[in-house]
Amino acid sequence: VEKGLKDYYKDYFKIGVAVNVRNTGGGDETELIKKEFNSITPENDMKMVSVHPSEHVWNWTNADKIADFAVKNGIKLRGHNLLWHSQVGAWMFKDSLTGQNVSKEVLLQRLKTHITTVVNRYKGKIYAWDVVNEAIDDKPEVFMRNSLWYQIAGDDFIPAAFTYAHAADPNVELYYNDYNESNPSKRDKIYKLVQSLLEKKIPITGIGLQCHWKIESPSTDDIRAAFAKYASLGVKLQVTELDITARQQRPRGETPDTAAAYSPEMSERQTKRYKEVFEIFRENKKALNSVTFWNVSDRGSWLDGRNMFAGGAAATAAPAGAPPAGGPPAGAPPAGGP
Ligand code: G3I
Repeated sequence: VEKGLKDYYKDYFKIGVAVNVRNTGGGDETELIKKEFNSITPENDMKMVSVHPSEHVWNWTNADKIADFAVKNGIKLRGHNLLWHSQVGAWMFKDSLTGQNVSKEVLLQRLKTHITTVVNRYKGKIYAWDVVNEAIDDKPEVFMRNSLWYQIAGDDFIPAAFTYAHAADPNVELYYNDYNESNPSKRDKIYKLVQSLLEKKIPITGIGLQCHWKIESPSTDDIRAAFAKYASLGVKLQVTELDITARQQRPRGETPDTAAAYSPEMSERQTKRYKEVFEIFRENKKALNSVTFWNVSDRGSWLDGRNMFAGGAAATAAPAGAPPAGGPPAGAPPAGGP
């Protein structure tokens, strides 16, 4: 059998990818997943709004399909996510009769029901959950994101979420997951949050570094510093949502310059960048146990969907094969095996 990325990296960490049901039912992307990856994360199908669209309605169709695909193919499964300020139904925060925000007690009770139900359902199938996603603010002077979770429950929703998840499945790994993880001020806040959870003996396994990066930034110094600082807490680390956009943001509505985004020069720069960051990942293999790409190929990347970048799609790694709709593959990460 031809080797894939997962095989080259077997002595380092798992190699994962974000998937949707459309990637798992056969076809070139399904074959690509089976060959290259030994871990998958549902891109959207396990989020609150997907599985729990209103208080007494649960929708497991897509989440179950992805879980079955993982089990059937012997691929590890990460759960994403149990709590986020986005992709959560408005009902979660509202009293259905008055339309007012619910009390902290009611919100935490709903959160407990949600987490207990979802974690229980995939017990033994999911080995790691992103428990709390993006709770920290990007502005240096503000610590917590001013989400409805925070407005109603203060800091307490974070330890509560980890505690509920651990109670439902004491064996599953539990991560705090965030982006801009290599930015020094946000890095320090993530560090402090996780440190305080550890001090309070809250069951947390580690930190998920999303790693939505550009070719130009963050700097390798900032990335190295972030890994070192997080690892100093003695927790496990995972790269959870890696992509490297080939182009800077363009104003909305402007026609993407697809030719430039897929030019050989751009591919070369992107490949060089992947090489550079995988070197850092390998340096951190003691703490780092998994590296997940955000999307199977440029064809379905969230960046393309939002048309945020010139060429839109020139974002994900598209390791070997899976040519993106608009041009040649953006460049595979280095094989880097021993
Ligand atoms: O499901 C609806 C569909 O019914 C509707 O017709 C369609 C029309 O817009 O929208 C569909 O929902 C979209 C959903 O993806 C599923 O395709 C949402 O509009 C769209 O906003 C949503 O985007 C996702 C985004 O999270 C939401 O903020 C992206 O696919 C997903 O890649 C992205 O992933 C996040 C991680 O979860 C957390 N970290 C950041 C990362 C990138 O933003």
